[in-house]
Amino acid sequence: MTALTGSPEPSPPPPPSRRPAAAEPPERPGPTGRARPRWWRRPWVAPLAVVAVAFVAFSLPPYVSLDPARSRVPAPAFFPPHYVMLSLHVVFGSVAMLTCCLQIWPWFRDRYPRAHRIVGRVYVLGGCLPAGLMGLVVGLATPFGHVIRASNVLLALLWLGCTIAGWRAARRRSFVEHRRWMVRSFALTMSIITNRIHTAVLIVLLQPELATTYHGDQALLTQTAAGLGGWLGWVLPLLAAEWWLERGDARRRARRRAATRAPSAPAPSAPAPPLPAPSLRAPAADA
Ligand code: HEM
Repeated sequence: MTALTGSPEPSPPPPPSRRPAAAEPPERPGPTGRARPRWWRRPWVAPLAVVAVAFVAFSLPPYVSLDPARSRVPAPAFFPPHYVMLSLHVVFGSVAMLTCCLQIWPWFRDRYPRAHRIVGRVYVLGGCLPAGLMGLVVGLATPFGHVIRASNVLLALLWLGCTIAGWRAARRRSFVEHRRWMVRSFALTMSIITNRIHTAVLIVLLQPELATTYHGDQALLTQTAAGLGGWLGWVLPLLAAEWWLERGDARRRARRRAATRAPSAPAPSAPAPPLPAPSLRAPAADA
């Protein structure tokens, strides 16, 4: 999420823009020369930000209170710095979550490329990297057992890996790669929310099996739901991110095939159309 200008991987010519409805003002072309849907046509941006702010508002208080008794995770006896590490993890994780809502927003990236670079540094250096390292440590020391430990450690390593790969790609000005890694990083950052949702839903769904599979042991049922929720919480968003990226690639390939087949293709002697301005945005898919 660093530099935005100049890409060695130029975008193909812009697709024909959608005709605006009669009552609506026409869509303005962005710095790339392409017509961009107006921000209110992207219904996911505002709900995403609302969910992220609500999650942070709910999560932070016990960990900025400096009162270990308010922690929602019991500290393991063998690891005294648990509360401090967990609190720092939550603070840095909150920075990552809030900044990535801005970074993933195409309108913000196109309109304020310099701000995108600055917020990107905050996302990586003041969010993901410290939160991921602390998540790795508290993940290893988790009091919730080996199933969650394995999930936490793998998630922390993937989060760090995707974010660093995205950062390095931007430094190399390899913006297509940068976008792909950062979409994965975003999915993992937000997976902490789906983790909580999965666990809550699973606790309810498993209740009919309390007397049978779980022999009436509610703690065992909750532990199972938390383990499943921990794994599904990040595996499903990561698969969704891969599907999203692949879908964009498939569209781009189809458009390229259609362009080569088009009878109105310019004659070889015709002057080449100017390349569009370099952009962080993927040629076809909107992140
Ligand atoms: C994606 C990589 C992340 C990893 C690997 C990770 C790992 C962990 C671990 C290991 C714990 C302690 C619970 C346990 O022992 O199982 C924890 C707790 C917590 N994490 Fe993360 N985390 C990540 C991202 C985030 C993000 C982005 C936030 C955003 C605020 C966040 C907020 C929290 C909160 C609030 C807790 C305390 C538990 C609670 O109060 O519900 N985490 N995390």
